[in-house]
Amino acid sequence: MEYSKQGMKDSRQSMSQSKQFFLFAKNFLKHPKMLGSIIPSSPFLVRRMLSHVDWQNARVLVEYGPGVGTFTREILRQMHPEATLLVLETNEDFVEFLRQTCPDPRLEIIHESAENIEQVLAERGLGLADYIIAGIPLSTLPGPVKDSILSSTQQVIAPSGAFLLYQFSPSVLPHLNKTFPKVQRDFIPLNFLPAHFYRCSS
Ligand SMILES: C[S@@+](CC[C@H](N)C(=O)[O-])C[C@H]1O[C@@H](n2cnc3c(N)ncnc32)[C@H](O)[C@@H]1O
Repeated sequence: MEYSKQGMKDSRQSMSQSKQFFLFAKNFLKHPKMLGSIIPSSPFLVRRMLSHVDWQNARVLVEYGPGVGTFTREILRQMHPEATLLVLETNEDFVEFLRQTCPDPRLEIIHESAENIEQVLAERGLGLADYIIAGIPLSTLPGPVKDSILSSTQQVIAPSGAFLLYQFSPSVLPHLNKTFPKVQRDFIPLNFLPAHFYRCSS
């Protein structure tokens, strides 16, 4: 009996994962430049990036471009019960999918571009963000959009917080150095595609 319950749980989980992969790949074919990858991030990349978060003290967390929720679910699992997570996603299919599959009172799913983060936080009276976690493909976005996202992000990061970003190309580095006082780098090979990681802070 126990065994068959576990079997059903496993098969539901793998069905939900195939659904996520299928939805992600379908949207990559429609909007390759907005997604930058054909599959979601690996658990290894998610763990490495999120190891930079101070979960005990973080109360306002933001994610840009959650896609099918690969980071979102892990953030929700680790974040403080009184913390808030805002996710900003431009793709309507992903917004709809997240609304159906990630019910959590601490999470708000917002159909907006990362460019509007200052307005999004101000409207909610949330002040500054402790962490902003992102994998949006900055190198393939139009220059003015990229600059606007980076400068708005720098404006809203708390002094003790950080902007945690992964990219498949290092071409964004000069822009990060221009915008943030401190930029630390790492390389995370265990992902498709291997990723450049940046921790940007003041
Ligand atoms: C490489 S996918 C990352 C998905 C997920 N975070 C992961 O790591 O598997 C990039 C995501 O950023 C979203 N995106 C692209 N431009 C955006 C923008 N300006 N604002 C918010 N989301 C954006 C895309 O729709 C897509 O979901």
